[in-house]
Amino acid sequence: MKVVIIGAQWGDEGKGKIVDYLANEAQIIVRFSGGANAGHTIVSGGEEYALHLIPSGILYPDKIVVLGAGMVIDPQALFSELSMLNDRGIKTEGRVFISDRAHLVLPRYIEIDKQRDAGRKKPIGTTGRGIGITYSMKSDRDGIRIADLSWKEKMDDLESSDREFLEPHADRLKAMSVDLASFIKHHCNAQILFEGAQGVLLDLDNGTYPYVSSGMSCAAGAAVGGCVGPRALDKILGVFKAYSTRVGNGPFPSEFDEDEGSEASRSSEVSRKSEASLSRFVRNTGREYGVTTGRPRRCGYLDLVALRYACFTNSIDSLVMTHLDVYDTLDEIKACVAYRIGGRVIEDFPASISDLNAAEPVLRSFPGWKRKLSGCLNYEEFPTAAMEYIEFIERFCETPIGIVSVGYDRKETIIRKSPWRG
Ligand code: IMP
Ligand code: MG
Repeated sequence: MKVVIIGAQWGDEGKGKIVDYLANEAQIIVRFSGGANAGHTIVSGGEEYALHLIPSGILYPDKIVVLGAGMVIDPQALFSELSMLNDRGIKTEGRVFISDRAHLVLPRYIEIDKQRDAGRKKPIGTTGRGIGITYSMKSDRDGIRIADLSWKEKMDDLESSDREFLEPHADRLKAMSVDLASFIKHHCNAQILFEGAQGVLLDLDNGTYPYVSSGMSCAAGAAVGGCVGPRALDKILGVFKAYSTRVGNGPFPSEFDEDEGSEASRSSEVSRKSEASLSRFVRNTGREYGVTTGRPRRCGYLDLVALRYACFTNSIDSLVMTHLDVYDTLDEIKACVAYRIGGRVIEDFPASISDLNAAEPVLRSFPGWKRKLSGCLNYEEFPTAAMEYIEFIERFCETPIGIVSVGYDRKETIIRKSPWRG
């Protein structure tokens, strides 16, 4: 069985924790997109790990993990992550593989990425990891793949600084490389988890272009970057938070208004906390700071217009809701159910950045549950108000919510329906 996990918002939905949880029943975990721009936080056995490149299944001693063909790999970042894991007692030898079709990030791409974004009139706010440059070299047909390390003519033709950078890493990278298509064919009866990075709204095609990353963070990316056909994928899971966050620039219609002074704005609708204090509350309670860059994340209401769009464009079979516990103490919860754009009410997610920038969220209110959800052992123990919020989202998105996460620990996960069964 092959299960795909993608982010259904702007990244940081808690995919790392969910992949780690579901990896228990998988043999192989394939990360299919992105590079060291990602930051996946996992808590296991009371220890916290931040992963950027290595798939989140690595914390189990017996799982095989593969960095897929759709990824862009910075060898220095990869080897320092492997050392960090080994130093912390996680043995990685012999179970981390890289698709020979994956592309390599060179140090000069990282410099160009930083300079180019700083020079933009409207910076995207990239993570400065060379991601966009590596993907554009790839589409320009000037990229360097893992397989190319064994292609003498190609290596001889490289600029000497690029060759000097790659040479010391080449043997180690080659030793980890696999033909992912034949690897998957040989393991056709295995339980395989395809792990995405970023989220649908940061996907190059589906996202809020140009304020996106450059990889395929959509479900289709699992097929392309995982070296399988789309029909081989059995289940698509979309992970989303009970609210929304975004790092970097770009439109964010349901963003909390951080300006305490703007009384005329939406903040008048918030009964107990102003949006500015709600924003601070969510950021601190949900620890909404970037794992890769440390930047504070922009926070906002759950955007159901965007989530429904993500469900439709990615054939999401089942949603995974995370961070619901962040709302445990609130009297009232709101979610965005439409956009008001220049007098019109829009229920479909627009492509136009100027429409998205102009969009005001139409908010729907839900009563809070005012109880600690992490104490609940199953869904039936959830307070009615929490169930009402969950079930409204299911109806709105026409997609069931199969898993609800109410804390960082593996134990704090409520499974309503396991993707591995039925
Ligand atoms: P890049 O991927 O470094 O090119 O950054 C492009 C945009 O995607 C920026 O707005 C980043 O903040 C955002 N981004 C990239 N990776 C992640 C992620 O893992 N989580 C959240 N945002 C990300
Ligand atoms: Mg992250």
